[in-house]
Amino acid sequence: MAGSLLRLLAILSLLPAAGAADYAGSKACKTCHADLAWKFFRNPHFRDEEVLPQPGAAGCESCHGPGSEHVKAPSKASIFAFSVRSSEEIVTRCLSCHSNEMGRMNFRRSEHFKASLNCASCHSIHHSPTPRRLLAKVQRELCYT
Ligand code: HEC
Ligand code: HEC
Ligand code: HEC
Ligand code: HEC
Repeated sequence: MAGSLLRLLAILSLLPAAGAADYAGSKACKTCHADLAWKFFRNPHFRDEEVLPQPGAAGCESCHGPGSEHVKAPSKASIFAFSVRSSEEIVTRCLSCHSNEMGRMNFRRSEHFKASLNCASCHSIHHSPTPRRLLAKVQRELCYT
């Protein structure tokens, strides 16, 4: 009885988890998001996927998460879409790599975060007019808003 239960659990653990997406690689994103993909090589977030050991460590999916489900069925729900995520989720995602710089500022407790600003309020990854610091607007305008 216990033995067959264990065997059943062992078989279940081999099945892929339902709905879990895998990394598709940035090349796959290029087919539909060519405009963003082609200019990305100038972004400080661009790193060559070929030289990194782990898929998803570089490229589009380092921020947008595993995209295999999205490639099959594109929607804002099948990928990490910043446009529909909460400030808390966005801050958590950016801080997964930037906790060193931002830790110093203790961003989560800062007045800016309480006013529900998040990283994407001031920074734009794809549409920054200033190559420096990826600011969403030139710094003078940013402060006035
Ligand atoms: C087969 C075409 C196709 C491929 C391949 C594809 N996408 Fe998309 N993607 C779309 C479409 C269409 C939408 C718009 C969906 C909507 O608005 O409901 C979208 C939306 C998105 C969004 C949400 C944008 C927003 O408004 O916030 C992100 C992020 C995104 N894609 C990233 C990626 C990434 C990363 C990859 C590669 C892993 C990728 N896409 C591959 C077609 C594709
Ligand atoms: C460093 C994190 C990061 C990386 C890496 C990244 N994105 Fe984005 N992406 C964002 C953020 C944040 C937004 C919200 C708009 C913005 O900030 O420009 C966004 C928005 C988008 C959108 C919505 C449409 C638009 O024009 O804003 C699409 C589609 C998208 N990304 C696809 C991609 C693709 C394709 C790649 C790889 C070439 C990629 N992203 C790499 C963070 C990232
Ligand atoms: C209120 C606007 C604002 C918000 C919100 C904001 N930033 Fe910034 N950030 C800036 C400005 C302005 C600079 C440029 C400072 C400079 O030029 O020295 C900057 C600089 C940076 C830098 C470069 C710093 C360095 O030490 O080189 C990083 C990385 C960064 N921000 C990430 C983030 C992340 C991640 C978040 C969210 C947790 C965030 N920022 C939220 C305005 C903001
Ligand atoms: C997968 C890790 C990763 C994620 C996630 C990530 N970043 Fe970065 N970011 C980096 C790396 C690596 C650099 C380049 C650092 C360098 O060159 O010193 C960078 C550079 C930057 C810079 C500095 C650009 C400059 O001119 O100095 C800003 C601003 C920034 N990121 C903001 C963001 C924001 C906002 C998010 C969330 C939307 C984000 N990052 C998500 C890894 C990441």
